[in-house]
Amino acid sequence: MAKIDLPKRDSFGSKVGIIAAAAGAAIGLGNIWRFPYVAGENGGAAFLIIYLSFIVAIGIPIMLAEFSIGRRAQRNTFGAFKILKPNQPWYIFGLLCVAMAFMILSYYSTIAGWTLEYLYQALANGFSGKSSDQLSGMFSDFQRDGSRPVMWQLIFMFFTAFIIFRGVKNGIEKYTRILMPLLFVLIVIICIRSVTLPGASEGLAFLFYPDFSKITPMVILEALGQAAFSLSIGLGALITYGSYIKKKENLTTSVYAIATADTVIAILAGVAIFPAVFAFNIQPDEGEALIFITLPNIFQEMPGGYFWAILFFTLLAIAALTSTISLLEIVVAYVTEELKISRRKATILSASAIALLGILCTLSQGPMDELTFFGKNLFTIFDKVTGNIALPLGAFLIAIFVGWFMGRNNVKDEITNQGKFKGRLFGVFMFIVKFLAPLAIAIIFLNGIGLIDLSAFSAPAEYEVIQNNVQISADTIN
Ligand code: TRP
Repeated sequence: MAKIDLPKRDSFGSKVGIIAAAAGAAIGLGNIWRFPYVAGENGGAAFLIIYLSFIVAIGIPIMLAEFSIGRRAQRNTFGAFKILKPNQPWYIFGLLCVAMAFMILSYYSTIAGWTLEYLYQALANGFSGKSSDQLSGMFSDFQRDGSRPVMWQLIFMFFTAFIIFRGVKNGIEKYTRILMPLLFVLIVIICIRSVTLPGASEGLAFLFYPDFSKITPMVILEALGQAAFSLSIGLGALITYGSYIKKKENLTTSVYAIATADTVIAILAGVAIFPAVFAFNIQPDEGEALIFITLPNIFQEMPGGYFWAILFFTLLAIAALTSTISLLEIVVAYVTEELKISRRKATILSASAIALLGILCTLSQGPMDELTFFGKNLFTIFDKVTGNIALPLGAFLIAIFVGWFMGRNNVKDEITNQGKFKGRLFGVFMFIVKFLAPLAIAIIFLNGIGLIDLSAFSAPAEYEVIQNNVQISADTIN
C-alpha cells in the first residue's frame, strides 16, 4: 500500500458515537417514509421477507466492507480508492459516489422539507377534524403550491449545511445520541395506537402474511434497492464515516448494532402505517404520499394526538437531518480533501449546488409536473434510479473491490483490528463479498431490468396450482 500522508482529521469520540452517527445516517426517511411506501407498492409481506434476507446476506457484509475501506484509507470516497489502489481507475467509482450522493440529497431534501411542512401543520393543528380524503387533498394541494415545498427544502438544506459546517464530532455525534432512541420510543407508541384501530388486522396480514405470487423480478430488485438505501450502502457514506472511526474500535459489532437498529425501525414503521392504512381505507400502493396521509389520520385517533404529532414530526425531521448530513458529508469531504477548499467554503458551495438541483426535484412534484422522462417526473426518476440502479451497482462494486482488490490480509487487519479480535466469520464474509454478493446483485439487477429472464427456471405450472391451493386454504382460514 502507498504511504499514507494524513492530514489531521476529525474522528468519532467514542464507540457509542460512531454507532449513533452511522445509525443516524442509516435511520431516516428511508425507514419511515420509503420503506412503507415501497413495501406497499410491492405487495407487503413477501417484499418484507426478501428485504430482510438481503439485509442479512448482502447488506451487513457490505456495510462492513465499506467501513473497512474507509478506516483503512482514512479518506473520502475518491481519495480512499486512490490510496488503496493508486494505479487503477477505482477512483472513478469514488467520484461517482460523490455524484450519486449529490443526486440522492437533492431529492431527499424535498421529502425532508415535507416533514417540516407537516411539523408546521401539526403545530397549527392543521389536521384536526379532517377526513382521510381531506388529508389526502391537503398533501396534493401542498405539492401543487410549489413555493412552500421549496421554502421548506431550503430551510432544511440550511440546517444540514450548518451541522456539516461545525465538523463531524461536534456536529454529527452530539445530535444523534439522544434523539434516535427517542424516535424509537415514539414509533412504538404510534404502533400501539395503530394496531388497536378497528380493522387493523388486515394491515398486519398485509405486512406479515406473505403472498408469494406477488413476487416479480422487479419486486426483488426493489427489495435490494430498499435494503441498500436504508442501510446507506453503495455510495460510500460508510467509507466516509469509516474514515473517522478510530483504529481500536470493533467494526463488526458496530455494523451489527447499526443494521439491527435500522431494520427494527423500518419494521416498526410498517407496523405503525399498514394497520392504519387499512383502517382508514387508504390504498397501500398510494406511493410517496403514503405516510403523509396515514399518520395524521392516526394522530386524530390518539388521545393527546396534537402533541404526539408535533413530537413525531420533530423527530422525523431530525432523523432525516442525521441522514442528510451523512450525504452532504460525502460531498464536502471530497471537495475539501481533493479540491483543497476550506470546509466552510466547500459546505456552502456543495449545499447551494445541491439545493438548486433539489428545487427542480421539488417542483417536479407540483408546478413542473409536465417535465417527465419515461412518463415519470424528476423526483420519481431520482428516487428509482438511485434505489434500483445506482445503489445496487455501487454495492456490487464495493463487494468486488473488497473481495478481489483490497487484499485479503488488509481486509482481515481492518476487520479483526490486526488480529485482536477472532473474526470467526471472516471466511464467510470473504465468501460473500467475493462471490455471493456480486453474483446475486448482478442476477437480481439484470433480471429486474429485464435483460435476462429467469422466469424460465421458475415454477412449472403444477407448482402454481399448488400455490393457488395454499392461497385458497389460507383465505378460508381467514
Ligand atoms: N439511509 C438513509 C435513510 O434510510 C438515507 C441515506 C443516508 C443514504 N445516507 C445514504 C442512502 C447513503 C444511500 C446512501 O433514510
